[in-house]
Amino acid sequence: RIAGPSGLVLFGVTGDLSRKKVMPAIYDLANRGLLPPGFSLVGFARRDWADQDFAQIVHDAVKEHARTPFREEVWKQLSEGFRFVPGNFDDDVAFDNLRRTVEELDQLRGTGGNMAFYLAIPPAFFGTVVGQLEEHGLADGTADHWRRVVVEKPFGHDLASARELNDVLAGVFEPDEIFRIDHYLGKETVQNILAMRFANNMFEPIWNSNYVDHVQITMAEDIGIGGRAGYYDGIGAARDVIQNHLLQLMALVAMEEPIAFDAESLRLEKQKVLASAVLPRRLDTTTARGQYAAGWQGGEKVIGFLDEEGIATTSATETFAAITVEVETRRWAGVPFYLRTGKRLGRRVTEVAVVFKRAPHLPFTSTATEELTQNALVIRVQPDEGLTMRFGSKVPGTAMEIRDVNMDFAYGGSFTEASAEAYERLILDVLLGDPPLFPQHEEVELSWKLLDPVIEHWAKKGKPDTYDAGTWGPPSADAMLARSGRTWRRP
Ligand code: BG6
Repeated sequence: RIAGPSGLVLFGVTGDLSRKKVMPAIYDLANRGLLPPGFSLVGFARRDWADQDFAQIVHDAVKEHARTPFREEVWKQLSEGFRFVPGNFDDDVAFDNLRRTVEELDQLRGTGGNMAFYLAIPPAFFGTVVGQLEEHGLADGTADHWRRVVVEKPFGHDLASARELNDVLAGVFEPDEIFRIDHYLGKETVQNILAMRFANNMFEPIWNSNYVDHVQITMAEDIGIGGRAGYYDGIGAARDVIQNHLLQLMALVAMEEPIAFDAESLRLEKQKVLASAVLPRRLDTTTARGQYAAGWQGGEKVIGFLDEEGIATTSATETFAAITVEVETRRWAGVPFYLRTGKRLGRRVTEVAVVFKRAPHLPFTSTATEELTQNALVIRVQPDEGLTMRFGSKVPGTAMEIRDVNMDFAYGGSFTEASAEAYERLILDVLLGDPPLFPQHEEVELSWKLLDPVIEHWAKKGKPDTYDAGTWGPPSADAMLARSGRTWRRP
């Protein structure tokens, strides 16, 4: 799969996302030979830069964040297609220049006029930018060339704003020209959930409420909010990652087999899960939220959220969030899905743990099975990518003693190919016009519909609980599971 003639216009070139993810991914794709020789990259920003200044910014970003080694000949070929257009988002002259640049690149580099417009900018500016693209004849995909728009989460901050945002995009671009990035779907281990479930015969028969007790989806981070106070304060953990990454993971774990592996069939099945997902009636006992206080992490003292630069000392933004979701289908009735995420937790780890019911009968004494817990299948999304199966085994010795053991599959042990970064895969898919890994608007809406009541409930309650940095969240998170005799995993 190699992209055909094309280019990409990047809005928001000075932001973190562009520097850390988009620019390095473009270089890595070029380095792996997956971009066409005339691929072109146009930066657009309110900066007084020439093309060379822009090239220098990309160069620095690539040197610092690219995954593949720096190769002079690849860089030379790629950077010859770099252009910079200075201007404000409401500047008509700048957008005329952008159109001319796009036309020139078609002549000079053979892009075929195929352009992706990547909006790595706050959603508040989407309207202005797509309006300008339309007005200046840049958004007009034809039979001869395609035009696509790429947007990043947050797709709104609640259902109403998500709808507004979608109207803005849909007013200018066709649904199949809009690519919404949820970078978790670009991760190999996330795509592997479907391979594991639907390429094998041994998991599906037990993948239901007859055998599964509950599912825990954890996305834990050790980092704090870093320099992202402006974005994070007022948004919080639930909107930042549960609405998108964690509900998408849940949908992949819970969905039925799609009739084919195309975008339409996949989205349809994910949508069915999200449409049948509900919250328990009592939100006070089935959700938890917290805010990190000072603590220790990796042997270092770290400050609390309220002391972070740019955060108001009265902030009620949660940095830890946990919710319970029930999927009301025959397959999942009665099986709670527990979703949790947090900053400044014990360690960085994302995993999906499918925890099975206990064996209906054990022909052993209770002392023999004292250390036996429930069977579990753990999909290790990151950083130690793989799968773990936990089951009971006899401890060698003269007595019948049974204890949990783990059977591991690690990517590194089975594959020599290194996983590409999620953004590489997703940007390549945009250029190829291959949509299965991009959520469409209906999924975004359904996710907000589910989450909005939780956020409203929390807003009424005022400040979140606190937890010390380096721990696994507030006590209310443990209490949330303890009520049903369950405990969170300590990955
Ligand atoms: C982003 C969130 O979507 O995902 C960040 O906005 C979070 O808050 C990041 O840190 C984590 O991504 P990853 O790929 O490192 O798990």
